Amino acid sequence: MTQKDIAVQVRGLVKHFGETRALDGVDLDVREGTVLGVLGPNGAGKTTLVRVLSTLIRPDAGTARVAGYDVLSQPRALRRVIGLTGQYASVDEKLSGRENLYMIGRLLDLSRKNARHRADEMLERFSLTDAAGRPAGQYSGGMRRRLDLAASMIGRPAVLYLDEPTTGLDPRTRNEVWGEVQRMVAEGSTVLLTTQYMEEAEQLAHELTVVDRGRVIAGGRVDELKAKVGGRTLQIRPADPAELPRMAEAVARAGLDGIAGATPDEAEGVVNVPIVSDMQLTAVLGMLAERGFLIAGISTHLPSLDEVFLAVTGQKASSAPAPHDRTDALQEAAA
Ligand SMILES: Nc1ncnc2c1ncn2[C@@H]1O[C@H](COP(=O)(O)OP(=O)(O)OP(=O)(O)O)[C@@H](O)[C@H]1O
Ligand SMILES: [Mg+2]
Repeated sequence: MTQKDIAVQVRGLVKHFGETRALDGVDLDVREGTVLGVLGPNGAGKTTLVRVLSTLIRPDAGTARVAGYDVLSQPRALRRVIGLTGQYASVDEKLSGRENLYMIGRLLDLSRKNARHRADEMLERFSLTDAAGRPAGQYSGGMRRRLDLAASMIGRPAVLYLDEPTTGLDPRTRNEVWGEVQRMVAEGSTVLLTTQYMEEAEQLAHELTVVDRGRVIAGGRVDELKAKVGGRTLQIRPADPAELPRMAEAVARAGLDGIAGATPDEAEGVVNVPIVSDMQLTAVLGMLAERGFLIAGISTHLPSLDEVFLAVTGQKASSAPAPHDRTDALQEAAA
């Protein structure tokens, strides 16, 4: 991979807030024209990362380049090529939705005509046309979020940061946002997206980075991560659903190497067997055939991203926040 293909390059990034190591040596790359999903529990450092990459705060150590610009030495140039939707809405409450977008377009050096045109286009895309003339202060939470997203996309940024873009949105609006993100990527943007929703990561991200306590603890393509956690579920469908309990028991008691158990799922009409190898798969099916079970279908499933997340973040001995983190969380909640 050449340097040129990398839109966002982060090496050894460190950021402290007092005792808290919000970023503790983060490395990551986002390839041009792709979406990197950054997953992590509360307080993992996701927003801090986005803020460093947006030049809103300075790192204590490490380097970060965005579209070739260095966050520390070229902040102005860098800001011109990025779009940001922060975790908390940042629209001007006194201005209407249309005025907010127009103003941002003008700040980005669009002509009056282009700024107007682009504002209307984004209002339309985010279903805000009807509310366009109302002050943003009167918008619902979901409407503000959509206005914020529209604002971050108005200048067709080369690199777009979305910090939990769909938290608090209803399912229909969430789908709308996903569609717009995909459209931006199709038009050539690179996206760094933080999210708590595994479904969102599955939908949008080409690659994932899991962070916890300021460190990258796992990364790769979605299927790679799933494979890394290890294990699949073998689902066996007996021709006769009445055979389910007997089949499950046969698998569980056969004493096959590494097969610890089997669970009948009456609703789905299958027996679920956790396996880790093709050899086990073959052994289970061979044993069932030998014992005269008639099998109507089989399939194997990788773990869900939820299971992956639990596996990689849950392996930390204490997942409870450290005392100072808890204070921060309380302060945040009180704010
Ligand atoms: N301005 C600040 N001052 C002090 N501590 C901070 C500040 N910003 C972040 N932190 C702390 O840094 C750590 C990382 O916070 P950050 O907001 O980056 O997490 P996050 O992954 O975005 O979490 P969430 O999922 O809750 O949004 C937390 O312990 C947080 O309390
Ligand atoms: Mg955050």
